[in-house]
Formats: sequence, structure tokens, C-alpha cells
Amino acid sequence: MAMRLSQKHDVILGSRDQAKSEEASRCCYATLADLGLPCSCSGVTNQEAADFGDVVILAVPFKHLKGTLESLHGLEGKIVVSPVNPMEKTDHFINNPPPEGSAALLVQKMLPDSKICAAFNVIAANRWKKIEEELNYAVPVCGDDPAAKSLVMDLVNGVSHLKAYDAGPLTSSSLIECITPLLLNIARYNKMKDVGIQFI
Ligand SMILES: NC(=O)c1ccc[n+]([C@@H]2O[C@H](COP(=O)([O-])OP(=O)(O)OC[C@H]3O[C@@H](n4cnc5c(N)ncnc54)[C@H](OP(=O)(O)O)[C@@H]3O)[C@@H](O)[C@H]2O)c1
Repeated sequence: MAMRLSQKHDVILGSRDQAKSEEASRCCYATLADLGLPCSCSGVTNQEAADFGDVVILAVPFKHLKGTLESLHGLEGKIVVSPVNPMEKTDHFINNPPPEGSAALLVQKMLPDSKICAAFNVIAANRWKKIEEELNYAVPVCGDDPAAKSLVMDLVNGVSHLKAYDAGPLTSSSLIECITPLLLNIARYNKMKDVGIQFI
């Protein structure tokens, strides 16, 4: 995500260990420089990233979402994006949401004064990484704050050929978060890789 977003935006990577985010930032610069592409990226702690960002993307596994949010402060008034899919692997992938109904709704409960949107839930990391390839997918975006949702949709539409679709209020996140386990099952049972979606 950083490699794609940092070509147009200032990306501040957070980590529990600043050395890791600094290394990720160096890797981002080096990869984009090799391709002659611009990059604005730096690596800091999670709290510093949360402090800096106008838009904060919570790219952590669901099982660490609560702990990560409990470790941060000062997210009031900010746009917070959840790409988090609360899923589990049995013999296949299943959606396993928290009692709030979805990961994004849990984020909203924990950050009542932030503007939460769900987005980027359906793009496989491997696709993000293949920087020389276009990303030609639909990205459902939902949220309760119209201005925040519009800004996040612009952010999505600025990446390669991604196309943002307004999926409605934040309660729709429970539907969006089901898509990735479905895609993973489709990939597995049909011997496909890094499956995405398009709406026509
Ligand atoms: N991977 C995909 O293809 C994909 C696609 C769509 C959506 N998503 C969603 O995006 C989110 C991130 O996925 P990912 O594959 O990037 O996850 P990941 O690589 O497993 O983890 C992302 C980061 O979470 C932090 N983390 C790990 N353990 C932690 C802990 N115990 N406490 C706090 N932070 C911890 C780590 O950062 P530090 O060690 O630097 O702190 C790690 O680099 C997930 O919720 C996933 O559902 C993933």
C-alpha cells in the first residue's frame, strides 16, 4: 500500500518497532526509485503515524486490532480506515466477526469521535506488491460521515485503476468484510491466485 500511495501522498508508516518501519520506508524508496517513480515515505512508531496522519489506515490483523487501538491516543476527529477482515481458517475461510458486527464497527465503538470508513478490504497484498502491474479492481467503501467517505473514495480512485464504489453506511462493513474469505475460498477451490472483484 505504501509503495502505491506514496507516489501521490505523504505516507507515514507506523510500527511497534521503528527500525521495522524505517526499513520498510527505505525499501519503498528503493523500489520506486528503480522504476523512476516518485516516493514520499517515512517510518516512525505507530503513535507518531497516528499523530501525523489526516487519514489513518489500520493495517493490522484483526486479532491485534483492539490492542493496537488501545495503545494509541489522539485519533479524535481523524478519518480512520479499516481494511481489516475478521476471518478464520478452518478447512476453508470463514468470516468471524466480533459482537459489534464487524471489525470496522468495533473500531467505531473504540473510537467514537473518529470518522471510520471500511476500504481496501478486498485487494490482495500480493497485488499491491506487484508495483509494475495495474490494480484493476472494485473497492467497496462504506462509512457514516459523507465527507470522510468521499475523501477515502478519492484516495482509492487515485491508486492505479482501482475503482471505489459507495457501499453505504458503516454497517455495510459486515458485508464487505465477508468478501475476502469468499475470494480466498474461490482462489483455493478453483486453483486461482490473488482473486479480486469488479462490478459491472
Ligand atoms: N494480506 C492481504 O492480502 C490483505 C488483503 C485485504 C485486507 N487485509 C487486511 O489488512 C490487515 C493487515 O493485513 P496484513 O496481511 O498486512 O497483516 P500482517 O502482515 O500479518 O500484519 C501487519 C502488521 O501488523 C502488526 N502486528 C503484528 N502482530 C502484532 C501484534 N501482536 N500487535 C500489534 N501489531 C501487530 C505488524 O507490524 P509491526 O510488527 O511493524 O508493529 C505487522 O507488520 C488485516 O486485518 C487483513 O485482514 C489483508
